[in-house]
Formats: sequence, C-alpha cells, structure tokens
Amino acid sequence: MKSIISLLFALSSGLLVSVPALAAGGGQLYPDDPANIKLTNTAALQHGAKLYVNYCLGCHTMEYQRWSRLAEDLQLSDDAVMDNLVFGEQKIGDTMTNTMPAAYAANWFGTQPPDLTLVVRSRGEDWVYNYLRAFYKDESRPYGVNNTVFPDVGMPHVLAPLQGTQILTDDLSAGGHLELVEEGSLSAGEYDESIRDLVAFMAYTAEPMKLKRESLGLKVIIFLLLFGAVAWFLKKEYWKDIH
Ligand code: HEC
Repeated sequence: MKSIISLLFALSSGLLVSVPALAAGGGQLYPDDPANIKLTNTAALQHGAKLYVNYCLGCHTMEYQRWSRLAEDLQLSDDAVMDNLVFGEQKIGDTMTNTMPAAYAANWFGTQPPDLTLVVRSRGEDWVYNYLRAFYKDESRPYGVNNTVFPDVGMPHVLAPLQGTQILTDDLSAGGHLELVEEGSLSAGEYDESIRDLVAFMAYTAEPMKLKRESLGLKVIIFLLLFGAVAWFLKKEYWKDIH
C-alpha cells in the first residue's frame, strides 16, 4: 500500500511540472526576470484583461479571442464584459478586434502592430513580461523610446504613465542597466505586478484550454490524495484483526 501511495504522489507531482516556454529569438535577454504568472488567479486575469483593453487593443487585435468565451473563462457576466471591456459597436459574440485600418497603422508605426492572441506562445511569457518592462528614453527614436528586449521597436511606451521613465545608463555590452529616473503613477513593484497580470491574460488567450487543464489538474490531485487516505484507512481496517 505504501508503494501505491508513493506512486500516487509521484504521479500527481508529475502533473504539476510544466515545461517552461522557450523565449523566441537569440541573444541575451535583459531584463531577464521570470514572469511567474498564475493562470488560476482569476482576479489577476480580469485585471490583465482590463489593462489589455485600455492600453493595447487600440493597436493590437486578438482575432482568435471571443468576448463571450472571455466572459465564461474569466468568470464575468456577459453584461459586465459588455459594460466594462467592449467599446463601440461590437457584440458579445464578436472577436476582440479594433477599428484601426491596417494601411494607416503601417504608416504610423512603420509596421502593422501584430495580433497578440498567440504572442505568449511564439515569444514565451518571460519574453513578453520583460519586454513590457524594458522601455527606456532614447531621443533618437521616432517615439522617444527604445527597448532593451526588442531593440528599435516601433511601439511607443504606452504604459509610461504607469511605469514612469527609465534610462539606460550605458550600452548593455558595457554593463549598462535600466534605471527609473521619473516615477509613474505606480511603484516599481506595482508596475511589475500589473505587467504580470497583463501577461497572464495573454497567456490565457494563447492557450485557453490551459486554464481548464490547470484547474482540472488540481482537482485530480485533491481526489488522489483523498482517495489515497481512504484506501489507507480501509487497509488498516481490513488488517486490524490479523496481526
Ligand atoms: C500605438 C500602438 C500600440 C499600442 C497601443 C501597443 N502597441 Fe505593442 N506594438 C506596436 C507596434 C507598431 C509593434 C511592432 C513593433 C515592431 O515590429 O517594430 C508592437 C509590438 C508589440 C509586441 C511584440 C510582438 C512581436 O512578437 O513582435 C508585443 C508583445 C506588444 N507590442 C505588446 C503590447 C501590449 C501588451 C500593449 C498594451 C500594454 C501594446 N503592445 C500596446 C504598437 C502598439
């Protein structure tokens, strides 16, 4: 019986191990902090969705994500989603698109902002997490900012009001680092936490089934533990008169 219990434990802990997403693209990542997202934290996903709609959706569509599915998975009512997240003429059954004409976008930014439904799958959650924390002041760029994770990126630092202004003290190769020189409305810790929520939301859209899998995995583990306990007591009961 003992061996069966330890087998159950081994099986259940195996379910907890997930393969970390590999960051796409070569080169050293800086900053290089783990995103540490928790897909089981529904409040964080809701906060991330709100940030996404307010700061990102204007440029980046999510063509593969439906509002109705978002409502269901993030435990929001359809009305709450329509009132708080959907702007304009869209209906609850529509996908998360915007009204920016592609030709204009290419003109404004030199390139069309890509759809981000699957970006966490292509880039990895750590890459996206660090990218959104890596903008720094660079007057030589069209929008006055550059990015250590994505050099010469065509995206403005839309979250600057929250994060504030960073500078890069020296070339990265010369040991330079990012330094906050002007505070935004959030503290550094709060900003990181918000980005974590935002990335968690994008990780969800990249793989909606993962949400179900993770909560199912937890239930399976709880079941196995309870079942293991029952089996153990039964065994004690059966054998108690024999010794
Ligand atoms: C004003 C328009 C605009 C807004 C708003 C905006 N972006 Fe971008 N973003 C861009 C453009 C343009 C690019 C493409 C940059 C390039 O290829 O040089 C980009 C690129 C990206 C990329 C890299 C995609 C890839 O794999 O190459 C990510 C990730 C990203 N944005 C996330 C976000 C997030 C998250 C938000 C909201 C906080 C956001 N963006 C808001 C314009 C925008």
